[in-house]
Amino acid sequence: MAEIGKVAVTGCGLMGSGIVEIAAKAGYETTAWEIDEEALERGLASIRKSMDRAVDKGKLEAPARDEAMARIRGTTSLDDLADSDLVVEAIVEDLDVKKDLFSRLDRICHEGTILASNTSSLTITEMAAATNRPDRFVGLHFFNPVPVMKLVEVVRTIATGEEAFRAAYDWAASVGKEPVEAKDASGFIVNRLLVPYMLDAIRSLEHGLASIEDIDKAMVLGTGYPMGPFVLSDFVGIDTLFRIAEIMYEEYAESRFAPPPLLRRMVTLGRFGRKSGRGFYDYSGDEPVPMKLDF
Ligand code: CAA
Ligand code: NAD
Repeated sequence: MAEIGKVAVTGCGLMGSGIVEIAAKAGYETTAWEIDEEALERGLASIRKSMDRAVDKGKLEAPARDEAMARIRGTTSLDDLADSDLVVEAIVEDLDVKKDLFSRLDRICHEGTILASNTSSLTITEMAAATNRPDRFVGLHFFNPVPVMKLVEVVRTIATGEEAFRAAYDWAASVGKEPVEAKDASGFIVNRLLVPYMLDAIRSLEHGLASIEDIDKAMVLGTGYPMGPFVLSDFVGIDTLFRIAEIMYEEYAESRFAPPPLLRRMVTLGRFGRKSGRGFYDYSGDEPVPMKLDF
C-alpha cells in the first residue's frame, strides 16, 4: 500500500485553504501552492483565521493550532512539491488550466506521487490523460466549508489503480472525512443532484415566482436545508457555479444543467457571491441584504 506522508495542495482559495487546514490538523506535513505571493498570503491568512475561530470556540487548543500552522509550508514554486506523496489540486474550474498544471506536476513529482483533483464537474479522466500516471490519478471531491462538511467523494476512472484508489480513500478517512466511492461522471453524486436544484432556483427567480428571500426561506423552513439556494450559490461562488453549469451542460446536453442567463450576467459583472462582496445578496453591511435583480 502506498504510504502518504507529505501532502501538497495546489490553489489556496475557498476549497484549497480548507484542505490545507484539515491535512495539517490531521498531522500531515502540508505544502500550500499558489499562483502568486498575494494569493498565497490571502490563503494562509484565511487558514489562520479559520483555526483562530476554532480556538475561540473551544474546538481546538491553541498549541494544536500552532503545531498545525507549523506543518504548513507556503510556496509559489511547483518544484517544492516534488517530494509530496499526494497532491490535491483545487485551482479554478477550467480544464485547460488544470491539464497544464497536472502535466507540470507529473514531470516534477516523484514516481509514486498520487495526483488528485477536487473538481466539481470536470471528468477526472480528462486530467489524468494529461499525465503519464493515469493509474495514480483520482478524484477527491471535498465540500464547502471543508473543515465542517464530512463528505469526500473519492472518484476512480477506468485507469485508476486499486492501490492508489485505496491510499486516497484511506487518506480521506485519516483527515476525519467520510469517503464515498463514485464513478467518473461529471458532477459525481452530489453535484449531479444539487446543481440542477440551484440552477432551477435561479430560473424560478427569473420567472418571477417569488423573491430571493422568500425562495431561500421556503427551502430552509419547508425542507430543513441549512441554507436556501441563493445563500448557497453565493457561498459556492457564482463564477464557480457558472463554470460547473457550463461543463455539465456540455457533458450531458440536458437543459437542467444549462446556465441561466441571470447567472451569466452576474459573472459578467463580477458578482461572484460572498468572495467578491456581492452576488444574490450584498455582504457589505452587518447582515446580507438581497440584491435587486429584476430580470
Ligand atoms: N470554515 C470553517 N468553519 C466554518 C465555516 C467556514 N467557512 N463556516 C461555518 N463554520 C463552522 C462554524 O465555526 C460552526 O462550528 P461549531 O459548530 O463547531 O461552532 C459550524 O460551522 C456551524 O456554523 P454556524 O453556526 O456559524 O452556522 P450554521 O449553523 O449556519 O452552519 C454551515 C454553517 C455549516 C455552512 C451550514 O449552513 C451548512 O451546512 N450549509 C450548507 C453547505 C453546503 O451545502 N455545502 C456544500 C456546497 S456544494 C459543494 O461544496 C460542492 C461543489 O462542488 C460546489
Ligand atoms: P476559488 O476561486 O476560491 O479559488 C481558486 C484558486 O485558483 C485561487 O486560489 C486562485 O489563485 C487559483 N488560480 C486562479 N487562476 C489560476 C491559474 N491560472 N493557475 C493556477 N491557479 C489559479 O475557487 P474554489 O471555490 O476554491 O474552487 C477550486 C476548485 O474546487 C474548483 O475546481 C471548484 O470547482 C472546486 N470545488 C469548489 C467548491 C465550492 O463550493 N466553491 C466545492 C467543491 C469543489
